[in-house]
Amino acid sequence: MAVEVLTTADGREKTALSKRHAEAWFAARAAGDPIPVGRADPPLRPSRPAQPELRDPRDVPKRKPGSPAGRIALLHAVAHIELNAVDLHWDIIPRFAHVPMPMGFYDDWVKSAAEESRHFNLVCDCLEELGSHYGALPAHAGMWRAAEDTVDDFMGRLAVVPMVLEARGLDVTPGMIALFRKAGVTQAVDALETIYAEEVGHVAYGSKWFHFLCGRHEEDPKEAFHRLVRHYFHGALKPPFNEEKRAEAGLPPDFYWPLTDAQGTA
Ligand SMILES: [Fe+2]
Ligand SMILES: [Fe+2]
Repeated sequence: MAVEVLTTADGREKTALSKRHAEAWFAARAAGDPIPVGRADPPLRPSRPAQPELRDPRDVPKRKPGSPAGRIALLHAVAHIELNAVDLHWDIIPRFAHVPMPMGFYDDWVKSAAEESRHFNLVCDCLEELGSHYGALPAHAGMWRAAEDTVDDFMGRLAVVPMVLEARGLDVTPGMIALFRKAGVTQAVDALETIYAEEVGHVAYGSKWFHFLCGRHEEDPKEAFHRLVRHYFHGALKPPFNEEKRAEAGLPPDFYWPLTDAQGTA
C-alpha cells in the first residue's frame, strides 16, 4: 500500500489513494483483524507529477509575501511540502519494516499520511480558488534529500524528518496564518489552522518513537538527537522557535537550542 502511494505521480491521485489505504488500515484495526505489515521495496524517490518543475532552492523566484502573487507562491510552497510529507510518512513504513515495531508505530504514520493528504488537498483548493494550481510555479528540488540521506538510518530519519523539519513547521505556521488573516483570505487561514493543529501530532509521533528506539538501544535521547541531526541535517537550526508547541509535541528546548548557529554547531 505504501509503495502504491509512493509510485503514484499525480498529487490528487496520490492523496486519494493515501486516504483510501489509511481508511482500509484503520477499518481492519477496528475490526480486530489488522492488515499484516509485510516487506516491500519503496523507490529511492517517489513518483511526482511532471509539473511543478523542481529547481534548486536558490533558483526558485522569491515574491513579496504581502502581494497576491506572493500569497500564491507561499501556498504553492506549502502544497509542495504537504505532498512531500505524504510520501515521507508512507516511506518510513516499508523502508524500516525489517525493524520490529509495535502496531502503534504504523497507526501513527498511516494517520499522519492521511492527514498530510488532506493538507495537500486543502492547500490545492485554496490555490485553485485564487486562480492558480499546484504545478503552476517551480518548487524546491531538495525536499526529498532528508529521506535519501537517512535511507538506512531509522533513528536518523525520525530525528531529521518529524523532529527537525516538521517541528520547523510549528515555528513558521503562526506567521503564515497571520499573513493570510491580514489579507482576508479566510479559506487559507482555515487550511493553515488545520495543518497547524495536526502537525503537533506528527512531531509528537516522531519524538515518541525516537525515544522508544533510544530506550531499546540504551542511548541517551538528547545525545543521540544531537549526534544524528549534526550528521544528517545540513545547516544549523533557526530560531525563533515555537517553544510552547514544541514542548506540547515532546521536544524540550535542550534538544534544539544546542543545534543553533549561536551554539557553534558548524
Ligand atoms: Fe502537513
Ligand atoms: Fe506533518
